[in-house]
Amino acid sequence: MTLRLGDAAPDFHAETTTGPIAFHDWLEDHWGVLFSHPRDFTPVCTTELGYVARLKPEFDRRGVKAIGLSIDPLDSHKGWAADILETQGHAVNFPIIADPDRKVANLYGMIHPAHDEVYTVRTVFVIDPKKKIRLMITYPQTAGRNFDEILRVIDSLQLTDAHKVATPVNWKQGEDVIIVPAVSDEDAKKQLPNGWKALTPYLRLTKQPSK
Ligand code: BEZ
Repeated sequence: MTLRLGDAAPDFHAETTTGPIAFHDWLEDHWGVLFSHPRDFTPVCTTELGYVARLKPEFDRRGVKAIGLSIDPLDSHKGWAADILETQGHAVNFPIIADPDRKVANLYGMIHPAHDEVYTVRTVFVIDPKKKIRLMITYPQTAGRNFDEILRVIDSLQLTDAHKVATPVNWKQGEDVIIVPAVSDEDAKKQLPNGWKALTPYLRLTKQPSK
């Protein structure tokens, strides 16, 4: 099955470093970030897991639960956690799925056989509280991900779910946003007391609405 944006995130049961989970129940009404690692005890993955642990307060602030996946077994994950703490200075503070039979990896299309027949590539799925897939990014095994970018897109998703705006290139929290084309100038006048700046009739910038 090929997953696409807007699809329901497949549910699954799995063993994790924090105990067995049923994915949807574990998410509760939070946003989720599900991300795969090619394998345990590898250098790039080690840096990524340490960084995600460091970002926990940022995920918490946005109501997001992070969960990693690697096809190695649970014992291996637990041994690896000690290395992550020692080398990255942050203890893993989120579950890592053990997926030795590749059940979850196959469900989410995390194995790209032409790239590697055995191990997962680096995927990221952002899942909203309705369990819909809202973002999918796939990286090669050799490139560590930019988790600040994942947070940035979550900020954009949460903002644009709440307001009829879109976020421009390289947008960050607090910067101007775009009024979506579906909103007429007439409606925009009612909704935006501070007005906007029109660079063209379709490119209208306004202050970021408060949440
Ligand atoms: C790593 O996580 O360091 C890695 C994994 C697979 C291939 C290359 C690097």
